[in-house]
Amino acid sequence: MFFVHPQIRFNNLWRAVFSLFKRSDLERLNQNLSEYFPKKQFIFTDMGRSAFKVIIEKFNLQNSEILFPAYICDIFYPILKQYNIKPIFLDIDLETFHIRIDEIKKKITAKTRAILVCHTYGLPADIQEIRKIVGQDISIIEDCAHSFGAECDDSFVGNLGDVSFVSLYKQFPCLRGGLLVCPQDWRISLPKTCFNFRDFISFLNCFSPFAWFFKKFGGKVAPKMIRKEKSLRPTRINRVSLNLFSDFLNDFEKSLKRRKELALFFQEELKKLGFEVQSHEDNIFCYLSVLVHKNLDGKRDEIIQKLRKYRVFCTRMWHTPIILNKQARKEYEINLDEFPNAVEAAKRIINFPLQNYYAKKDIEKIIKAIKKVI
Ligand SMILES: Cc1ncc(COP(=O)(O)O)c(C=O)c1O
Repeated sequence: MFFVHPQIRFNNLWRAVFSLFKRSDLERLNQNLSEYFPKKQFIFTDMGRSAFKVIIEKFNLQNSEILFPAYICDIFYPILKQYNIKPIFLDIDLETFHIRIDEIKKKITAKTRAILVCHTYGLPADIQEIRKIVGQDISIIEDCAHSFGAECDDSFVGNLGDVSFVSLYKQFPCLRGGLLVCPQDWRISLPKTCFNFRDFISFLNCFSPFAWFFKKFGGKVAPKMIRKEKSLRPTRINRVSLNLFSDFLNDFEKSLKRRKELALFFQEELKKLGFEVQSHEDNIFCYLSVLVHKNLDGKRDEIIQKLRKYRVFCTRMWHTPIILNKQARKEYEINLDEFPNAVEAAKRIINFPLQNYYAKKDIEKIIKAIKKVI
């Protein structure tokens, strides 16, 4: 069975179970993280979005304008509303899925205080180029939700902007958790979160048989649970998620190397079948994302549905980016004609399963299933 979200192999079961009980070694973890983000402070939050909320509050971005990717998750919409922030959307490039840098200058207004730059799917965006355009008066917030460990211009992403945040559970099988990477002099204190039933379900979801069971029978329940979380105030990460992250971080570099090799092989096979793949340079492939062939336009959802019969569970991130969220469209009077690429990506995107521990034969099995389906 093949899933997109990080999975734990059964031979790591005891290692994972141990994480439920042990005490976190924060000092060691901070040391490890300093190798990725020298001279920064690390704040662990319950989710990546909470780290973003902390940034808004610290930078006093309430009631301001932020330059925002048109193609990004709509979990940001309630946050923008909560802080009365007006997003100024930027269309994307269809090869990188990044914001189009040439659009930035003409969209800046006197009220623009920050820009959110997302290293989408694990591909580093060009922060230095963006800095040249926005200068020092507009803060660059790096959204590293998909890109922990990606390198660009001799440093890890998250170091070149003014502040950055990561969504840990997208790359590590750690149930939930965000990481705020900020200047050392920020003083932040967040309430504690305890490991709860929902976290336990997420823990089971890291193992294929349970993940299969939840996909088959939990389709309606999970989104409700997640929706409930959107209104919450930022809190700290729970102990189990922190332990799992800390533990899997030890093998991270080795597994990332393997992941990239597999991804390149996977991309080549997908290209042969007519899919358009994301740029690969410096990409760490948190998501192996492709656009379905234009001839198959309109059949994306059917392809994903049929692949499930072969136990290949793809995702469609983001089939409803923020600009397609109905309420957001109304509230910000979004004219979709201004964002043709974001709209097209939303229609054609597929994220294929890729786990660090896959072998070439796993990719071949997935390709075989895709061939049958298309
Ligand atoms: C690009 C991006 N940024 C931020 C987030 C928020 O991360 P989290 O789910 O940890 O709050 C997500 C995912 O939802 C995302 O895909």
